[in-house]
Amino acid sequence: MANNEDLFKQIISHAKEYGYIFPSSEIYDGLSAVYDYAQYGVELKNNIKQYWWKSMVQMHENIVGIDSAIFMHPSIWKASGHVDAFNDPLIDNKDSKKRYRADVLIEDHIAKIEEKIEKEVEKARKKFNPFDEVLFRETNGRVKEYTEKKAGIERRFAQMMTDNDLAGLKTLIEELGIVCPVSGSRNWTDVRQFNLMFSTKIGSLSDGADTIYLRPETAQGIFVNFLNVYKTGRVKVPFGIAQIGKAFRNEIVARQFIFRMREFEQMEMQFFVRPGEELKWFNYWKEERMKWHLSLGMEPRDYRFHDHDKLAHYANAATDIEFMFPFGFKELEGIHSRTDYDLKQHEQYSGKKLRYFDPETNETYIPYVVETSIGVDRMFLAVFSHAYAMEKLEDGSERTVLRLPARLAPVKVAVLPLVRKDNLPEKGREIMDMLKPNFLCQYDDKDAIGRRYRRQDAIGTPWCVTIDNQTLEDNTVTLRERDSMQQERVPAAQLNTIIAVKL
Ligand code: GAP
Repeated sequence: MANNEDLFKQIISHAKEYGYIFPSSEIYDGLSAVYDYAQYGVELKNNIKQYWWKSMVQMHENIVGIDSAIFMHPSIWKASGHVDAFNDPLIDNKDSKKRYRADVLIEDHIAKIEEKIEKEVEKARKKFNPFDEVLFRETNGRVKEYTEKKAGIERRFAQMMTDNDLAGLKTLIEELGIVCPVSGSRNWTDVRQFNLMFSTKIGSLSDGADTIYLRPETAQGIFVNFLNVYKTGRVKVPFGIAQIGKAFRNEIVARQFIFRMREFEQMEMQFFVRPGEELKWFNYWKEERMKWHLSLGMEPRDYRFHDHDKLAHYANAATDIEFMFPFGFKELEGIHSRTDYDLKQHEQYSGKKLRYFDPETNETYIPYVVETSIGVDRMFLAVFSHAYAMEKLEDGSERTVLRLPARLAPVKVAVLPLVRKDNLPEKGREIMDMLKPNFLCQYDDKDAIGRRYRRQDAIGTPWCVTIDNQTLEDNTVTLRERDSMQQERVPAAQLNTIIAVKL
């Protein structure tokens, strides 16, 4: 049985070997934390985006979509706080010359203590049956000790992050005895702040050029278009503006594959509400977004909320939807009640009134905002890693299968003539032509049928249609289902309907 680290490596190499994700610029040895989506990857990614767009924009009559530019006026990032405060605390190890995020070093240390607690609990679970976990956590000496230690570190850490106490973070790293994973030494530099925005110059002449930023989130493109949408969209509070697009962050630590990238994509929605009603809508979106995840057939046990105790100065509620990635529970989506902070800031910096006249109350106000923000690439990784499985079959052989939700799978149907003769390829082409206007299909008549099934399993194709001699006699085909590997004989003429119903 592969451990989680091995499993994650297998998932990464599967993504490359089967045309899902390639390292960017690979023939030049790659570019750190940048990836390209390959022939199947781009289909899966597009299907995720479509599924989100449909559920947010098409299914909510009071949400509209936009697509704002990546380049925006530089004052936007001053107003939003990104120029002054979009920083990560970084620290270098003087021996290895490796750079780390100071907060991540501490978080990893906390995660190790958590692992120790879980190991103790797991041991007890195996030993005692029935097992009262709450009582055990309260009474077991070691578990109590670890739990208190962890809580103490978390308290201090949270305070330091709030106070921007960089010296405190260094002291904590030293006190906890955190070593550099490469050199093994504790020879650390001081902690410094590092702004995550990429900058570039706009204009054809460099001397007349102005510094602008590649947007680090898509949200600001929504805020600065609030007035335009309000004036042209016939929208009434509460209403939302949704957007999918690229975002860029100069992440200090590039790791965990597409989990943390320097160029990534976000699917964000800002929901504008009456002041005072924001917490009601925050709870609404918390539930809605969790339902969206579960509607894909993912396991509820792989999701949890992580409510923020310490809130950013502009938020009055925030939660993360965390997913059980192969490297543990991590943030997949954020839901934030951002008050009227962003619109107020843009009012101040632009000098334009960003207000809404409420015909029901006869009041004019700056709406409050509830935001839902999910990374497309993280969602991709969640779906892909959840789908990946190695299975032992009854005949003793093994197969690797991607159990992707059918509606997200890149190829929906593979059309496979049993042999490459006896007019079966011609019949296969006919069926392919009948299906391809409706579904992304793949035709394949090379190799033994068993190998072709394995290949479709490995790219996650939910259905294989096999054409054999009987097809020529009665126009029926076998329809093989990926997960159960069950085959049924169905009329070829009904394939479009059968597959549409299954989808
Ligand atoms: N507008 C709010 C915002 O940007 P965030 O928590 O910084 O909030 C939202 O980002 C989501 O974007 C995260 O939950 C994550 O899914 C995704 N995300 C953030 N940074 C990322 C990165 N470097 N690589 C991939 N996805 C990232």
